[in-house]
This record gives sequence, structure tokens and C-alpha cells, in this order.
Amino acid sequence: MATRQHRFTIRKSVEIAPGVVHLFLTTPDGPAEHLPGQFVMAQLEDSEGEFTRSYSFSELPGSDANELVISRVNDGRGSEIIFGLTAGDELSAKGPFGRFVLRNESPQRYIMLATGTGIAPFRAMLPELRRRIAEEGAEVIICQGARERSGLLFGDEFKAFAAAHERARYYACLSRDESVDAEQHECAGRLTMILEQLGPNAESDIVYLCGNPDMIDESIEMLKARNFTPRQIRREKYFS
Ligand SMILES: Cc1cc2nc3c(=O)[nH]c(=O)nc-3n(C[C@H](O)[C@H](O)[C@H](O)COP(=O)(O)OP(=O)(O)OC[C@H]3O[C@@H](n4cnc5c(N)ncnc54)[C@H](O)[C@@H]3O)c2cc1C
Ligand SMILES: NC(=O)c1ccc[n+]([C@@H]2O[C@H](COP(=O)([O-])OP(=O)(O)OC[C@H]3O[C@@H](n4cnc5c(N)ncnc54)[C@H](OP(=O)(O)O)[C@@H]3O)[C@@H](O)[C@H]2O)c1
Repeated sequence: MATRQHRFTIRKSVEIAPGVVHLFLTTPDGPAEHLPGQFVMAQLEDSEGEFTRSYSFSELPGSDANELVISRVNDGRGSEIIFGLTAGDELSAKGPFGRFVLRNESPQRYIMLATGTGIAPFRAMLPELRRRIAEEGAEVIICQGARERSGLLFGDEFKAFAAAHERARYYACLSRDESVDAEQHECAGRLTMILEQLGPNAESDIVYLCGNPDMIDESIEMLKARNFTPRQIRREKYFS
């Protein structure tokens, strides 16, 4: 899909968790086209000059707006601007970019791991994952990691996805809250713990990792030790 210059208008900005904003963006030409899993590069400017920050598209295909989900980083240059945006403001951005997309592949099992706002691309992939479950018999396991329950972004959508499909599962790992509810698919600890428990198998699985770079590096080490090749591990690190 060709990269284009976009001039978005903020339709609304909603704080969906402490320090996390959900932005709805429109253009006169309709939503910017992209594949689920791709991102835009926002072109920002502050007193130090111009700079860019990347944000993944999170909306479901067919939505009438593009959606971004952004976590506030303390003293972050981009965060200062993004968290000041209100309805009617404009945001310039280029995109789409990225190869963190579902490819033409037919593994028996998809294992998707995300921390924090790293869940955004997986939300956008849900309809295609649903199709692959129905038409290709794939199994899909989505694991979301957050410090506390309030950080389980779109958790209800993933729960509904898992409830609707026999071959879909959802786990929520809370790293700083011991009061977990197993009926709500919650467990105490980090995502890497659940990855180990799933017993990833290089013969049958493809693993997608998004968000915290330490989680991604640790998961890759674990998967390499289980004979996964780089082609069987897809990753999008949110900072280096
Ligand atoms: C491909 C891609 C897609 C991304 N998509 C999203 C997205 O959908 N939503 C989203 O919230 N972010 C996303 N990010 C991260 C985002 O681009 C910014 O890096 C992040 O928001 C911090 O930017 P900032 O300007 O506020 O902070 P900066 O000014 O860049 O950083 C301030 C300080 O915080 C540290 N830091 C930077 N990022 C983090 C972090 N995430 N956690 C803790 N410390 C940090 C820096 O090392 C620095 O010391 C994505 C990154 C990439 C590469
Ligand atoms: N979460 C919040 O309440 C909050 C609110 C506002 C702003 N912020 C800021 O936003 C940024 C991102 O915060 P975030 O909480 O979304 O993301 P984060 O700090 O990347 O943490 C998200 C999850 O990833 C886990 N994690 C970290 N390293 C890991 C590893 N090596 N393996 C497995 N899991 C790992 C964390 O566990 P641990 O808890 O064990 O580290 C946590 O459960 C930070 O700068 C933060 O200060 C956070």
C-alpha cells in the first residue's frame, strides 16, 4: 500500500485508561488506508524543532475513522503534544508503514503477545484472524500484558472474540496486581510466563510480539531455544 501524506483532524480524544488516550482521526477523503498491523508516523513540532513518532492503527477494518491508542510517557516529547490534542485539532502524519502484518501463511496456531498499547495492531487484525479460524482451522491465542487491570485495553473485545470461537483463547497477565480473576482469563505475572506455559512449538506456531522491547527480547530468546527461526517470529518494538 502506497505511503501518503495525511492531514488528520481529531474527531475525539478519549482517555480509556490512566495515561492512555484513544484518538479518532478523520480526513476529508475518509480513513487512511492501511493493512491491519501497520502504523503512521506523526509529524510533530515543539520548541526544539520537528520530529516524528510512530503509532499503530488500532481500528477494525471498515471503521469510518482511523484510531490510535497512545500511552503517555513521562516527559516524552511526543506525549506532551498528543495528550494536548482535542477535537478539531489537526495532526500531520505519513503512512502507512510497517511489515508487522498477517502474511499469507497457514500455521496451526497463532500466538499473539502484547504489552500496553502494543495490543493496538492485534485489535485491527481481529476480523482477519476470525476468517483464518473459520476458513483455515487456525487456532488463535491472544495474550495481553499490563501492570494492572485498568491497563487491559479493549480487554472486553478480546474476551468476546475468544468466547465466540472455540479455537480462540485470550489471557490477561497482570504484573502488579495479585487479585486476578481466573474466570475473566486473568493471571498474575508477566506475559513471558504465559508464553512458557503455552509450550510454543516451532512445528506448528507463528508468534507475533508487540510492545515492550524487553518482553520481546526475552520472548525471542525463549522461542529460539525452542528452535523457532526468525521467520516464525514477528515483532514490533515500541521503543529501543
Ligand atoms: C512502529 C512503532 C509503533 C508504535 N506504536 C505505538 C502505539 O500505537 N502507541 C503508543 O503508545 N506508542 C507507540 N509507539 C511508541 C511511540 O512511537 C513513542 O516512542 C512513545 O510514545 C514515546 O514517545 P515520546 O516522544 O512521548 O517519548 P520520548 O521523548 O521519545 O522518550 C522520553 C523518554 O522515555 C523513554 N521511552 C520512550 N518510549 C517509552 C515507552 N513506551 N515506555 C517507557 N519509556 C519510554 C525514552 O527512552 C526517553 O528516555 C510505537 C513505536 C514504534 C517504533
Ligand atoms: N501502566 C500505567 O499505569 C501507566 C500509566 C501512564 C503512563 N505510563 C507510562 O507509559 C509507558 C508504558 O507503560 P506501560 O505500563 O503501558 O508499559 P510497560 O512499562 O512496557 O509495561 C507493560 C507490561 O509489560 C511488562 N513487562 C516489562 N518488561 C517485561 C519483560 N521483560 N517480559 C515480560 N513482560 C514485561 C510489564 O511488567 P512489569 O510491571 O513487571 O514491569 C507490564 O506488565 C511507561 O513510560 C509508563 O511509565 C504507564
